[in-house]
Amino acid sequence: MNCTKCKTKAVISLPRHNAAFCKGCFNGFVHDQVARAIKSEWMFGKEERILVAVSGGKDSLALWDILLKLGYRADALYVNLGIGTYSEQSHAKVTKFAEVVAASHGATLHLHTVEQEAGAGIKELAQLIHRPTCSTCGTIKRYQFNRVAIEQQYDVMATGHNLDDEAARLLGNVLHWQEEYLEKQGPSLPASVEGFAKKVKPLYRLSERELAAYAVLNRIDYIVEECPMAKGSKMLQYKEVLNRLETESPGTKQTFYWGFLEKQSKKQPTATTMTEKDRAVLHPCTSCSQPTTAEVCSYCKMMVRAKTVVPR
Ligand code: AMP
Ligand code: FES
Ligand code: ZN
Repeated sequence: MNCTKCKTKAVISLPRHNAAFCKGCFNGFVHDQVARAIKSEWMFGKEERILVAVSGGKDSLALWDILLKLGYRADALYVNLGIGTYSEQSHAKVTKFAEVVAASHGATLHLHTVEQEAGAGIKELAQLIHRPTCSTCGTIKRYQFNRVAIEQQYDVMATGHNLDDEAARLLGNVLHWQEEYLEKQGPSLPASVEGFAKKVKPLYRLSERELAAYAVLNRIDYIVEECPMAKGSKMLQYKEVLNRLETESPGTKQTFYWGFLEKQSKKQPTATTMTEKDRAVLHPCTSCSQPTTAEVCSYCKMMVRAKTVVPR
């Protein structure tokens, strides 16, 4: 198998693009897909400051790597959730990448440790406040991503969600007709109200397999294990189903998700409509000032409950 571009020996085949690439041309392909995502979804420019949320997994570390190599001003944030060895190992991978690769580009890593603020790790915290671990985790991560982006005055916050993540989420939203979520499923969400950072997903054109290959070929040392709490989750089930379809008909995920984006862009000028809707329902939390639909935001409510049950 030879590289479709330069005809030397290929290291990866991409059935959905009917192509195969050597390492150099594959890196060029990945960088080009990210550059296209940034441009077509008006994500950010070269002067803007980007905060990448890095989990220690392949996607977000690859994203940080790609943005730095493309010449963007990208710092990162890692949230230590306190999930035993999983968090210890992912923390170590992020720190190593920050010291070895990111530092040579002058980039900074911000850290937030859940235990320091909440008095307990995510599992314990979820049990104490009687909520599922993953939703507690989601609330905390979303809150901290936004808080750090706003406090440190970043122009935009980027996550490592890839094509598989977005196609699986779309499948879930369609299966349950979650119309409100469908509206907000784009790869670029505006800073609709003061206190909300703009949020982007520059990897939405690349699959999980392509990102794993990018990380391996570029010697990015990432945590291979998924979060132990995610086992058996609906998201993983949807991914499995889509993978089966993809094997039978390469390009299924891309047709599904990109097709949705195309329809969405024709339907409405998303940014304006969403901004108007958000402005109508959001106002500052009376405790922390982050935008919320209630008087006190769900993060602050959670912290109040945690502090009443966690001995300090
Ligand atoms: P997940 O929801 O675990 O699939 O993660 C989606 C994206 O959220 C990742 O690609 C990261 O950008 C970000 N993320 C997940 N976990 C963390 C974490 N502990 N700290 C910082 N960013 C994270
Ligand atoms: Fe949040 Fe696993 S990453 S519970
Ligand atoms: Zn609050």
